Amino acid sequence: MLSDLHSTVILFIILCFLHMPISLGQDDERYRSCGEPFQCGSMNIIYPFWGGRKPEYCGHPSFEIKCESSIPKIAIESTRYEVIDINTPNRIVTLARDDLLSSICLDNPENASFDLNTFSYVSSDLNITLYFGCTVRPGLQLPPSSPNRFNCNSSIFGIYTLINVPFNLSLVTCQEEIIARVNQTSAVALASPTASVEVLRRAIAGGFSVNWTAGIDSKCQQCRTSGGRCGSNPDSGDFACHCLNGTHSNYCNDGPNHLPGNLSSTNPHNLLLLESLEDKL
Ligand SMILES: *[C@@H]1O[C@H](CO)[C@@H](O)[C@H](O)[C@H]1NC(C)=O
Ligand SMILES: *[C@@H]1O[C@H](CO)[C@@H](O)[C@H](O)[C@H]1NC(C)=O
Ligand SMILES: *[C@@H]1O[C@H](CO)[C@@H](O)[C@H](O)[C@H]1NC(C)=O
Ligand SMILES: *[C@@H]1O[C@H](CO)[C@@H](O)[C@H](O)[C@H]1NC(C)=O
Ligand SMILES: *[C@@H]1O[C@H](CO)[C@@H](O)[C@H](O)[C@H]1NC(C)=O
Ligand SMILES: *[C@@H]1O[C@H](CO)[C@@H](O)[C@H](O)[C@H]1NC(C)=O
Ligand SMILES: *[C@@H]1O[C@H](CO)[C@@H](O)[C@H](O)[C@H]1NC(C)=O
Ligand SMILES: *[C@@H]1O[C@H](CO)[C@@H](O)[C@H](O)[C@H]1NC(C)=O
Repeated sequence: MLSDLHSTVILFIILCFLHMPISLGQDDERYRSCGEPFQCGSMNIIYPFWGGRKPEYCGHPSFEIKCESSIPKIAIESTRYEVIDINTPNRIVTLARDDLLSSICLDNPENASFDLNTFSYVSSDLNITLYFGCTVRPGLQLPPSSPNRFNCNSSIFGIYTLINVPFNLSLVTCQEEIIARVNQTSAVALASPTASVEVLRRAIAGGFSVNWTAGIDSKCQQCRTSGGRCGSNPDSGDFACHCLNGTHSNYCNDGPNHLPGNLSSTNPHNLLLLESLEDKL
């Protein structure tokens, strides 16, 4: 008797939930929060990037920017970068490696990598190879002018090489090497016989560029034209267009709303569930 009353109360509560138009308020909230400006330093961050006051559903899941002391930072495949510039129309982001910015001599250097389904290297930049933990082989000597050598501490140094800037590597032994990228202007400066560790630091700070594949944001223009705000579906991560009347999968007038989850009372499946519950009462 008591437990019957108990389950009736629980059923009643469930019914109240199913009748609530849960998704409408939420969708409008997405439209509004994706319209919030997200400024970091002097950079105005827009789709496909998100972060700060813009939740993940306002961007592409792989494009989170964290604003640290007014400096925009991004982590890609576990390497952290300072974001130097974003060129949205050309889909290019210019990045500088955080680890090399804080110290030109790395103890445990790692090669950065990019998911080639998302990013490609911009072809105007050049590879440089950085060697760390180098010492001169016993009995040998470096040429008096070795601009591509940089000191790390009193006993070890580093070397950089790039195309047209060779170095006789059989003079030294080095612990580790990585490939990094610099822009063309920096590469020219690094090739100069008067280059110095300062030139190398500036080259790293100048960054290199990657472009994101067209597929990432190809649906955004049509969404904006229809009055929507570009973003992603919080469940699947796929593109989504957040409109005043809800979240759509492509643009605002592309048919019925794409409702989040399947909790809405307009979902036929929930209506069936509702009827069967009401039968029981
Ligand atoms: C951007 O990436 C595409 C491949 O997705 C490539 O074909 C194109 O050349 C790249 N653009 C630049 C400026 O490198
Ligand atoms: C430059 O480095 C990248 C990343 O290591 C590599 O994929 C690419 O093949 C290199 N390009 C050249 C011309 O060596
Ligand atoms: C120089 O740095 C290396 C690695 O960072 C370290 O093993 C070595 O002890 C340092 N030497 C001096 C003299 O500080
Ligand atoms: C590089 O250095 C080694 C050792 O001193 C020397 O035998 C060799 O000829 C040098 N190679 C070039 C290209 O200078
Ligand atoms: C970085 O990549 C280069 C070229 O692929 C390789 O020779 C080097 O060992 C790699 N460095 C590290 C630290 O994995
Ligand atoms: C290339 O890097 C240098 C730093 O060495 C920077 O001053 C310059 O603005 C960069 N050029 C481009 C086109 O990004
Ligand atoms: C949502 O609004 C757009 C106009 O902004 C309209 O074309 C579309 O039919 C509406 N969709 C629904 C499901 O109400
Ligand atoms: C929600 O319902 C639609 C059709 O009613 C279905 O295609 C979709 O897979 C459902 N999604 C979830 C997360 O159950």
